[in-house]
Amino acid sequence: MKALITGITGFVGSYLLDELLVRMDWKIWGAVRTAPLSPLVNNNSLKLVQVDFQNEDDILKCINEIKPHYIFHLAGQSNVRLSWEDKRQTFDINMMNALNLLEAIRKSDVANTVRLLTIGSSEEYGFVKPELLPINEETALNPQNPYGISKAAISMLVKQYHKAYGLNVIHVRPFNHIGPGQKRGFVTSDFAYQVAAMEAGKMDQTFRVGNLVSKRDFLDVRDIVKAYLELIMHGQGGEVYNVCLGEATSIQEILDFFVAEASVKINIETAAELIRPVDIPLYIGDNKKIFEATSWRPQYSLEKSLTDILKHWRER
Ligand code: GDD
Repeated sequence: MKALITGITGFVGSYLLDELLVRMDWKIWGAVRTAPLSPLVNNNSLKLVQVDFQNEDDILKCINEIKPHYIFHLAGQSNVRLSWEDKRQTFDINMMNALNLLEAIRKSDVANTVRLLTIGSSEEYGFVKPELLPINEETALNPQNPYGISKAAISMLVKQYHKAYGLNVIHVRPFNHIGPGQKRGFVTSDFAYQVAAMEAGKMDQTFRVGNLVSKRDFLDVRDIVKAYLELIMHGQGGEVYNVCLGEATSIQEILDFFVAEASVKINIETAAELIRPVDIPLYIGDNKKIFEATSWRPQYSLEKSLTDILKHWRER
């Protein structure tokens, strides 16, 4: 089997690559905008191809050369706060690049055979009335930020490509993914980074936080990539699947964990620039559909994830 992964050098992409190399006897191609400086892996199972995702012909050429059985489209702009600062780039990277990919697949030699996984987000649901929680795949989309709108657009596009052209596409809506290696700009990395920097004496003792009352459904990236693999193989084409734990944790609880782990005293300060124009108070997902479709079950506890994230930042 042959798989093509976009965004292979990113946070989720690198974990998916590890998962595939360990578990599957597949040939893997990673589509990258620019060649990375160091090799991702030293074996013959992986090849990198340079592809310009703004150029449909370039993608088409790549697909026809490889003729993949599976395409994981992970490349995207994943930062909600950044999407307020650069709305156009968020739409270009998330929506337009997905459209280019869909068009290229539709015109390709593998249009009738390839299975495509597209990555959405719980941010597509946006504000959901408390009585409608937990969020399932039928919950109406009501995104509240440019990122969520760009991901909702992808889910609507892929639905049409399935209906109109029979494309075998599975759309996932992961809730908050966390894990060692995630960049700063996401809450668990932002907090763990500050603890590690303070312990190492690289930062003064003021710990900057944003909104602490929101609650999120956190899932470890190592669980998420397993879900993606299960779904691309066993999910129903044209369907959407939530990927979530089904439990909500407040940002205050995340902060409490890190403060308790810190070996230095921490003074907390709310930073105005970390407060967003709109912030959804609570995300909690319903994982019944993925549980019924696959044997996937989350393995990582939140405590294990947070411990590993802190270890990662302490070792940097
Ligand atoms: N990033 C960040 N940094 N967030 C903070 C901080 C901080 O220092 N302090 C409080 N927060 C709050 C945010 O306001 C938000 O309510 C919550 O912590 C989570 O923020 P993020 O970790 O940035 O994640 P997100 O919920 O906005 O988006 C993530 O989850 C989506 C799925 O729901 C991202 O991983 C998206 O890519 C993903 O689609």
